[in-house]
Amino acid sequence: MAFPSPLAEGECFGFLGPNGAGKTTTVRMIHCVSPITAGEISVMGEPAHIDNRAIKMMTGVVPQEITLDRDLTVYENLRVFAYFFDIPGVEARRRIDELLAFVELEAKRNAKISDLSTGMKRRLLIARALLNKPRLIIADEPTTGPRPAGAAPDLAAAQASQAAGDDPDPHHPVYGRSAAAL
Ligand SMILES: Nc1ncnc2c1ncn2[C@@H]1O[C@H](COP(=O)(O)OP(=O)(O)OP(=O)(O)O)[C@@H](O)[C@H]1O
Ligand SMILES: [Mg+2]
Repeated sequence: MAFPSPLAEGECFGFLGPNGAGKTTTVRMIHCVSPITAGEISVMGEPAHIDNRAIKMMTGVVPQEITLDRDLTVYENLRVFAYFFDIPGVEARRRIDELLAFVELEAKRNAKISDLSTGMKRRLLIARALLNKPRLIIADEPTTGPRPAGAAPDLAAAQASQAAGDDPDPHHPVYGRSAAAL
């Protein structure tokens, strides 16, 4: 699989391919959870390799599979990720509140994952991917789920805004304005 290189900051790039082509594998290599067996990948100047924490810290991934902890609530799933990213408690709670509002899951804050619809789970994955204010957002199969018209454009806007490097950004879809404005 060959890519145009390099991708510019602020660029929204998508790739398509048949089942088994290697899209998810590529995402996993970029995100440093699968080994690179040929070629090389650089993310913001960092070489991708297994467990490169610098890349993980600046990347948000919406996975193809629903990788939520079923034993935890909606809030707790986000809180655990905030902990992974070393986001301090007060800031974590503030960001989680904003993101739950952004993906319109405030009413499900204390719900167990098993009580969510598939589309709600996808939205929670989007919130989780934005928690660390990533410079790079990767969505594997972004149109999967019952709100295909909603999820992908939101992510594209979030990526463009994040890549601009402004924080706080009045145009940021999460931190700058409400989801209702989108
Ligand atoms: N390091 C590796 N070496 C060899 N084969 C691999 C490696 N990693 C993944 N594969 C295999 O390569 C294939 C590509 O799978 P992958 O899930 O990346 O495809 P995909 O394009 O995301 O497909 P889908 O559209 O079904 O999601 C799979 O058969 C997978 O098991
Ligand atoms: Mg895949």
